[in-house]
Amino acid sequence: MAEKFRVEGLNKSYGSNVIVDDLNLEMDEGEFLVLLGPSGCGKTTTLRCLAGLETPESGLIDFKGRAVFHSDRRINVPAHKRDIGMVFQSYALWPNMTVRKNIAYPLKVRKMRDAIDKGRVEEAAEMVHCGHLLDRYPAQLSGGQQQRIAVARGLAARPDLVLFDEPLSNLDARLRDQVRTEIHRLHESLGFGAVFVTHDQSEAFALGDRLAIMRAGKMEQVDTPQRVFDNPGTEYVAEFIGMSNRLELHRSAQGWRTKSGVDLDLRRDVPDVEGVVARIWPDDVELYRDADSVPTGMLALKAELLSSEFGGRHYDVVVAAGPEEFRLRANSALHGAWLRQAEEGEPVVIALRPETMQIYPLGAATPVVAGAA
Ligand SMILES: Nc1ncnc2c1ncn2[C@@H]1O[C@H](COP(=O)(O)OP(=O)(O)OP(=O)(O)O)[C@@H](O)[C@H]1O
Ligand SMILES: [Mg+2]
Repeated sequence: MAEKFRVEGLNKSYGSNVIVDDLNLEMDEGEFLVLLGPSGCGKTTTLRCLAGLETPESGLIDFKGRAVFHSDRRINVPAHKRDIGMVFQSYALWPNMTVRKNIAYPLKVRKMRDAIDKGRVEEAAEMVHCGHLLDRYPAQLSGGQQQRIAVARGLAARPDLVLFDEPLSNLDARLRDQVRTEIHRLHESLGFGAVFVTHDQSEAFALGDRLAIMRAGKMEQVDTPQRVFDNPGTEYVAEFIGMSNRLELHRSAQGWRTKSGVDLDLRRDVPDVEGVVARIWPDDVELYRDADSVPTGMLALKAELLSSEFGGRHYDVVVAAGPEEFRLRANSALHGAWLRQAEEGEPVVIALRPETMQIYPLGAATPVVAGAA
């Protein structure tokens, strides 16, 4: 219990807007938690509360048995005494300080003179392959170098917990992969705990020991990437991790009926509701040119082509099946020849497997788990 990092009943408002809403969270020592959620849901505000840069109205933040914030006991430990490192989206290096001084800054405010004398600043710069840049100013560095220095600065004091607020989003795709791998490697070797905010689902799946999906100031689901992937607890989570296709179904004599009047058997028990929403990964929607080609056991829906974009080995295709749009990936080798010339409005057929769908009661606002087999 004492080794955990714990947040209980945290509340933070700006004026009458509740931003962090009775938030609870628990992390093990050294755990890498990825925080995902749409813009404005309160991710940055949550990190700023943890770091001590914002003062919540109420709640508890306990760091391995030591309360750093506790409204009831009027505890509010200042930021530099919380043993927390921070890496932000915009590198936020001090422009008038050299790289050396930037990295030394958190050591100085913590009065870690010894560590500076023993070469901690140089060591932190080496960790991110920037040992040769110590005497430069931020303006003399590339974006990737600046972000690496920001990582070195966040880790230099060897904090137990490091907060990353979209640290890779300003980098181009190749650099993002590189710096992401470096952060992953540093986490493995140094063992710090991390809360890492990202908008990028693949980044979240790749880095997280656990994912926390946030909605309007609360945690909607906190679980391992595999379990979130296999069983997103709510429709909101399913959509947020990339299950972008949504099929609304209503009970019928035959089982379930789509809005365009096609019947299907969901082949599983469904809670006692009149309507459900099926969420489906783009990868689980197959494209055919006519209904006769659809394998038995799959649900065929007539559709029309809206757009297709070449993506190398696949085409990203959007179709409309009645009132609902579906995104799918069509294999270029199978479909490239005709998709290249296909026009908008061309009739197609999409095929779905009920087993790959996540089913949620229609209109349910609260978590309901009705996982696929
Ligand atoms: N200092 C402030 N004063 C008033 N409102 C604020 C302040 N800081 C943030 N907000 C509001 O709080 C809400 C949450 O902001 P926050 O920055 O935490 O969102 P976020 O989840 O980090 O979003 P993004 O993904 O866009 O970075 C937003 O509606 C924002 O406008
Ligand atoms: Mg933010």
